[in-house]
Amino acid sequence: MTTDDLMEILNTARLNNVCIGVSGMLLYTGSEFIQILEGEEEVVEELLDSIKKDPRHRDFRIIEKKKIYKRDYAEWTMGFKRIGKDELRDVPGLNKFFDTDLGGSIDKNKLDLINNLLNHFRNEGKKKNIHDELSLDQEDKFIYFLHSAIRFGVKALALLMMLTVLWCVLDVVVVIYEEILSRPITELGKSEILHVFGSFMIVLIAVEIFINITLYIRNDVIPVKMVVATALMAVARKIIVFDFHDVSAMHVIGTGILVIALGGCYWLLEREFKVHSDT
Ligand SMILES: Cc1cc2nc3c(=O)[nH]c(=O)nc-3n(C[C@H](O)[C@H](O)[C@H](O)COP(=O)(O)O)c2cc1C
Repeated sequence: MTTDDLMEILNTARLNNVCIGVSGMLLYTGSEFIQILEGEEEVVEELLDSIKKDPRHRDFRIIEKKKIYKRDYAEWTMGFKRIGKDELRDVPGLNKFFDTDLGGSIDKNKLDLINNLLNHFRNEGKKKNIHDELSLDQEDKFIYFLHSAIRFGVKALALLMMLTVLWCVLDVVVVIYEEILSRPITELGKSEILHVFGSFMIVLIAVEIFINITLYIRNDVIPVKMVVATALMAVARKIIVFDFHDVSAMHVIGTGILVIALGGCYWLLEREFKVHSDT
């Protein structure tokens, strides 16, 4: 198989797998393919039939079929790795993989070996997908020091933000007292109620900002969706407390455009996220 041959298989597989909701991984040793497929039973069976008939390989065998309740390869429409002896030389439990004859019947030892191999490359792939911009896994001591200092700064910000959230909660109590409780009910107008709503929304935005800050020290999430959601919330907050006597028409139109742009952006991100987690 040349790289082009492999790319052809992968391109078809990935495109088709997204449509039929199949995820998995394909390993190529130079002479053998080892593939794992996850999806609805009938869909996988149908796909297996098609792969079985493909003339680009022969001696097709099903090693194991099992029911699963959670996908192990959910992010991959078809992960791929071409593996060689060198790569497995230092991997405990897998260094003898290339010396094992996988022909004949698949006994427990062979099955364990294949499962270990798949798990190994799944974990390797997951490590690569990790978003760790402030990684402490640095060879350069100076960069390590800078990353540690920034991480410390982010933690300090998170602490200050937590105090700010509590302060904002206190502010809500004070605003409720001043605007509602301390005056006769007949004096309660629209602007007083809007003021109370505004103070609630500020707490929610503060909480969103806190979550945004902590995302920078986690490595399993990409914060862009969260940032867009916070921006959307901040603009929406303005709309809720708009006093149309005070704002110009241009201001309202501009805010509307912003909401549509942020909403569209969030929808696109959500859709992208869904495709990855569904397949
Ligand atoms: C080793 C190997 C693995 C394959 N894996 C997939 C796969 O995961 N999904 C897929 O749609 N096609 C995969 N294919 C390609 C299918 O065999 C087939 O060409 C493709 O599904 C198109 O089938 P069709 O022409 O009947 O529509 C694979 C082919 C080979 C040789």
